[in-house]
Amino acid sequence: MRRTQTLAKSRDDLADIEDEFAFSVIEGLSKARKVLPCRYFYDARGSELFEEITRQPEYYPTRTEARILEENADEIVENIGDGELLVEFGSGSSLKTEILLDRILPSVAYVPIDVSEAALADAKARLAKRYPVLDVRPIVANFSRAVTLPPDLGERRKTGFFPGSTIGNLSPREAEGLLAVFGKVIGKGGRLIIGVDLKKDPRILIDAYNDASGVTAAFNLNLLHRINRELGANFDPDDFRHEAVYDPQHGRIEMHLVSTSDHRVDICERSFRFKAGESIHTENSYKYTVEQFRDVACASGWDAQRVWIDAKRHFSVHELIWR
Ligand code: AVJ
Repeated sequence: MRRTQTLAKSRDDLADIEDEFAFSVIEGLSKARKVLPCRYFYDARGSELFEEITRQPEYYPTRTEARILEENADEIVENIGDGELLVEFGSGSSLKTEILLDRILPSVAYVPIDVSEAALADAKARLAKRYPVLDVRPIVANFSRAVTLPPDLGERRKTGFFPGSTIGNLSPREAEGLLAVFGKVIGKGGRLIIGVDLKKDPRILIDAYNDASGVTAAFNLNLLHRINRELGANFDPDDFRHEAVYDPQHGRIEMHLVSTSDHRVDICERSFRFKAGESIHTENSYKYTVEQFRDVACASGWDAQRVWIDAKRHFSVHELIWR
């Protein structure tokens, strides 16, 4: 496992930490520039808050992508042949997938991959009702590692689905690595349908991560509540404020939790000092031009095919084929 390697290379005082969450938090907060991995946003409360973010008027990505998928669904699925497999990476509730499944049934089997067994069970139950003939074969796994598909399905031609611009949480170099992992799962001649948020007027980007109702702020701060709850820490979330800024150099939105005072926090028998104005960097959300994303995809082993974009050019859905 990856964590074993990390442990072996890290300082001795981290070597006794068994829990992956505790390890990541202590490692991240021990850095000169403090960081927390954004994958830990999504506990039960965090997932609820994210759903609420997607309903905020300023947060355009989810509804724009859904509209692109709906308006172009027939075209998007037209090359998916009979008996193919639809593989979704990080499927969650599999809600967007229905836009595609409505049009390619009953010719495919569907393989949702997610870390949450509960989300997979819910999705499978709902899909079984809506599509009684669909063969749903969930896999509980972290999509960033190559999964092995069940032997009876592994032979079929595959289409991968990775909506939501989740790819934006990775740097372009990391994105290249993840796309190559997907390529190994999908195989030669298979395709990938992937949602990617586009570069645009920074004002629109900044507003999307600073909604007026403060839902994104609550989502960011929930990470501190989670650390308190699960690791017995004593963060006072009132000592931090949400910040989301656009870095044009890197082409990314950065989210931070900025300390508003000099103070100390205790986590797992360790003590961390915060200066007033010091930040914890909690998330990157990279934005691409169509060309920039195609270059990343191409470097990882995919050939760029069609791309669908909304009228305001806020969001893109790419079709790629594995070489
Ligand atoms: C789920 C990674 C696409 O980057 O826009 C939303 C997460 N963070 N608001 C994004 C998020 C703050 C979201 N992704």
